[in-house]
Amino acid sequence: MSNSSFQVALLLILVLSKAIDVSGQGKEGQCDYKSKLNPRPHSVSILEFGAVGDGKTSNTIAFQNAVFYLKSFADKGGAQLYVPPGRWLTGSFNLTSHLTLFLASGAIILGSQDRSRWEIVEPLPSYGRGLEFPGGRYRSLINGYMLDDVVITGDNGTIDGQGSVWWDWFSSHSLNYSRPNLVELISSNNIVVSNLTFLNAPAYNIHPVYCSNVTVQNISVYSPPGSPFTVGIVPDSSDKVCIESCNISIGYDGIALKSGWDEYGIAYGRPTTRVHIKQVYLQASTGSAIAFGSEMSGGISDVLVEDLHLYNSLVGIEFRTTKGRGGYITEIIISDVEMQNVHTAFGATGQRGSHPDDKYDPNALPTLNQITVKDVTGSNITLAGSFTGIEESPFTSICLSNVVLSVASGSSTSWVCSNVSGFSEFVIPEPCPDLSSSFPNSSSACFSLLRSYGQSAVL
Ligand SMILES: *[C@@H]1O[C@H](CO)[C@@H](O)[C@H](O)[C@H]1NC(C)=O
Ligand SMILES: *[C@@H]1O[C@H](CO)[C@@H](O)[C@H](O)[C@H]1NC(C)=O
Ligand SMILES: *[C@@H]1O[C@H](CO)[C@@H](O)[C@H](O)[C@H]1NC(C)=O
Ligand SMILES: *[C@@H]1O[C@H](CO)[C@@H](O)[C@H](O)[C@H]1NC(C)=O
Ligand SMILES: *[C@@H]1O[C@H](CO)[C@@H](O)[C@H](O)[C@H]1NC(C)=O
Ligand SMILES: *[C@@H]1O[C@H](CO)[C@@H](O)[C@H](O)[C@H]1NC(C)=O
Ligand SMILES: *[C@@H]1O[C@H](CO)[C@@H](O)[C@H](O)[C@H]1NC(C)=O
Ligand SMILES: *[C@@H]1O[C@H](CO)[C@@H](O)[C@H](O)[C@H]1NC(C)=O
Ligand SMILES: *[C@@H]1O[C@H](CO)[C@@H](O)[C@H](O)[C@H]1NC(C)=O
Ligand SMILES: *[C@@H]1O[C@H](CO)[C@@H](O)[C@H](O)[C@H]1NC(C)=O
Repeated sequence: MSNSSFQVALLLILVLSKAIDVSGQGKEGQCDYKSKLNPRPHSVSILEFGAVGDGKTSNTIAFQNAVFYLKSFADKGGAQLYVPPGRWLTGSFNLTSHLTLFLASGAIILGSQDRSRWEIVEPLPSYGRGLEFPGGRYRSLINGYMLDDVVITGDNGTIDGQGSVWWDWFSSHSLNYSRPNLVELISSNNIVVSNLTFLNAPAYNIHPVYCSNVTVQNISVYSPPGSPFTVGIVPDSSDKVCIESCNISIGYDGIALKSGWDEYGIAYGRPTTRVHIKQVYLQASTGSAIAFGSEMSGGISDVLVEDLHLYNSLVGIEFRTTKGRGGYITEIIISDVEMQNVHTAFGATGQRGSHPDDKYDPNALPTLNQITVKDVTGSNITLAGSFTGIEESPFTSICLSNVVLSVASGSSTSWVCSNVSGFSEFVIPEPCPDLSSSFPNSSSACFSLLRSYGQSAVL
């Protein structure tokens, strides 16, 4: 069979096998459920609320009043808030259920650079404090709390956080609270973010927390390489997430999957699960293109990542945890990856991340297992893989198949391994002995979507 028909056949098998998946979670990856968005029966323009698109006038009250007005349409099929071309400066505002926020081509929502326009709010319960400082945190620019059916979309309009002031305040230690994000949805369901450009987030760009059924599609995200700890998309204690056709070029992590921090995340106990990421272009200057953790105390599982293009990044794909986290990272499958100019292609570390306070349980050991990576090519890679597990809880069942990396330094120093075990086949350069066992012929040691057939032969 030719390579492409082989891939088609493989895909077909994957699709069929998912259809009878014993976990009963349905047929395909999250992105394969195509749902149609019905146009909202009502639409109003932000102009009707006195907004001025001159880039100087603050429009916070206009956005808040518009959303308040549109609440009354929730039981009438919902409504659209239309933002025409212009530069719409605003402080933070809330969304409401059954709302579409639509940014026309040339519409730019600008986050205020006046710190007093950003309210301080309570920390998330699964973190117990702000990420960067104890206590509260700045409210995000666009917020949703306990909402249903929200669409944030447009004709490639832009949401620009104007984050440079926040990066300077952060770097010069002149903040007392953790930086805000651009879009944050908390405890909300049925969310779509699409067809937009996100620029210069103070910290994260898109942060769904305790959410279900979230689609992020066809967006571009850009923050400059020097922007400290800026992150693209962060599914956090959320399930049924699809991230598709997105281009992210960012200071720190491209896409980071998280689920809470130490004792707070363990107590909250909500995992990130059933995530599908496909067809994304990622550049992560000082972090990882795709990161799992380091906050993962509620667990991360059942993640399907495919068709990845990673370039000019410090790390390609990284799993991060530490003692005291508890939780797990398991049942992850990553396939069809192309990397270019990436320092470390794969990382897994059990020594990463600080603790929220001194109340964490040092005996809460995280587990990491059932990770399958296949069909990867890489050029200009410095280190193929660094896998440093936890002595009391080694990383197991790491399975590498058909991974071909062109590494400058030669194979002897290409892999760093400790407290890890796994299997490999067709891996260049040759992996460390810990990962060199040949693939098990029948067992379920290697996680694969074919497990419901009890096969691993296709890998
Ligand atoms: C926004 O929602 C939060 C709840 O998440 C609420 O406390 C706050 O008062 C709301 N702000 C406005 C302007 O409605
Ligand atoms: C992606 O978004 C752009 C506007 O941002 C639009 O022109 C294009 O048609 C969209 N593509 C898809 C596949 O939705
Ligand atoms: C969207 O706009 C940005 C600039 O605002 C541009 O770089 C990007 O190419 C546009 N994307 C599409 C799909 O038109
Ligand atoms: C931070 O706290 C210090 C000490 O309480 C105070 O002097 C400073 O003005 C605060 N900075 C901000 C931005 O609130
Ligand atoms: C997921 O959300 C989308 C967009 O709101 C909606 O069309 C779809 O019906 C939802 N799917 C499920 C299974 O609820
Ligand atoms: C994105 O834009 C394209 C082209 O206008 C449109 O077909 C598609 O429905 C939009 N996607 C969403 C999710 O709004
Ligand atoms: C992302 O980049 C790819 C390749 O450069 C391009 O084909 C695609 O249109 C881009 N998508 C968006 C949403 O900008
Ligand atoms: C190789 O990748 C590194 C980043 O890891 C980059 O700094 C360097 O410029 C790349 N070399 C070439 C020849 O592209
Ligand atoms: C596990 O890691 C510890 C510390 O990094 C190291 O001292 C120990 O030798 C490792 N154990 C194995 C079995 O590799
Ligand atoms: C798996 O391989 C082992 C040794 O190579 C062999 O004894 C065993 O019968 C094989 N099992 C299956 C199901 O093929």
